[in-house]
Amino acid sequence: MFILGIETSCDETAAAVVENGTKILSNVVSSSLPLHVKTGGIIPEVAARQQIRHVIPVIENVLGSTPGIDAQKIDAIAVTIGPGLIGSLLVGVETAKTLALVWKKPIIPVNHLIGHIYANLIGENPKPDTNIKFPAIALIVSGGHTDLLLMKNHGQLKWLGGTRDDAAGEAFDKIGRLLNLPYPGGPSIEKEALKGNPKSYNFPRPMIGLDNFDFSFSGLKTAVLRKVKTMEELNNETIADIAASVQQAIIDVLISKTLRAAQKYQARSILLSGGVAANQKLRDEFELNAKIFAPQKSLCTDNAAMIAAAAFFNYTPSSWKKTTANPELYFI
Ligand code: KG4
Ligand code: ZN
Repeated sequence: MFILGIETSCDETAAAVVENGTKILSNVVSSSLPLHVKTGGIIPEVAARQQIRHVIPVIENVLGSTPGIDAQKIDAIAVTIGPGLIGSLLVGVETAKTLALVWKKPIIPVNHLIGHIYANLIGENPKPDTNIKFPAIALIVSGGHTDLLLMKNHGQLKWLGGTRDDAAGEAFDKIGRLLNLPYPGGPSIEKEALKGNPKSYNFPRPMIGLDNFDFSFSGLKTAVLRKVKTMEELNNETIADIAASVQQAIIDVLISKTLRAAQKYQARSILLSGGVAANQKLRDEFELNAKIFAPQKSLCTDNAAMIAAAAFFNYTPSSWKKTTANPELYFI
């Protein structure tokens, strides 16, 4: 089955063709990130306008670069319907609906967050280990979300907990801004942290000891703000030490909660996903404790191949008439 995936939930305009949920035939991502670097964060209206500009060229590009595949050979169109920014989501959803109507194809609406998990089933050069065994625990750590899920099988997901305030990626981004580092904060903090000592500052590990699967990262940002205000100057050395200490605090909480969930539900696999899963220190420290699955780094951030993969394993094709964007789509 050939699925054309379309993803426009935030600042990436992406399209991909995936065969049987696992084999990427083509994958194109156009990001408006350089525009957001200038403003230190995403302005939704700016992101939505870029989506409009890029969506058709990206889809044309992906179909043009898939040997042997044209619109007729596509079996279904998978599209992210939420969660995300409404202006951005609408561009992908309305484009997908129009193509479904004109090409007479079914449409598969996909939850963006479930899409992130399925980045674990695709990949190339080298082909990753995708032999996932159930039950599995999935940790989704992105710019907007931090969620733990129990996967009894494909299509059988149970939400265990999530952040009560800022997401892990959001904490990286906000703290990056406090440290005057380029947006997005996650990769910037990871880079600075390589030069710093993670034991320099004992930042809080929010909710780490609580017997639940919820997270809270906004207090961490406040703790860093307080620390920075007491300093006469932020020099390269203190920035590196704060970055390393913050990164460690976030990693400690993510690992502790995920391993607790894995133990409680006797998980046979642990899956990381979302932009923060690109963090090498997070992967390395997880691996010291357990075998994990983590997507190829380029597939951790938003892309349409993961949307096509999630569509194949979780959903049944539907009609364009029943498809609508839902910026607040969630698990519960
Ligand atoms: O999944 P994603 O592309 O977008 C959302 O759906 O939110 O995730 C973007 C987030 C940003 O907050 C970014 O700072 C974070 O992922 N991120 C990282 C790294 N690369 C991206 N965080 C920590 N370390 C990284 N290497
Ligand atoms: Zn995402």
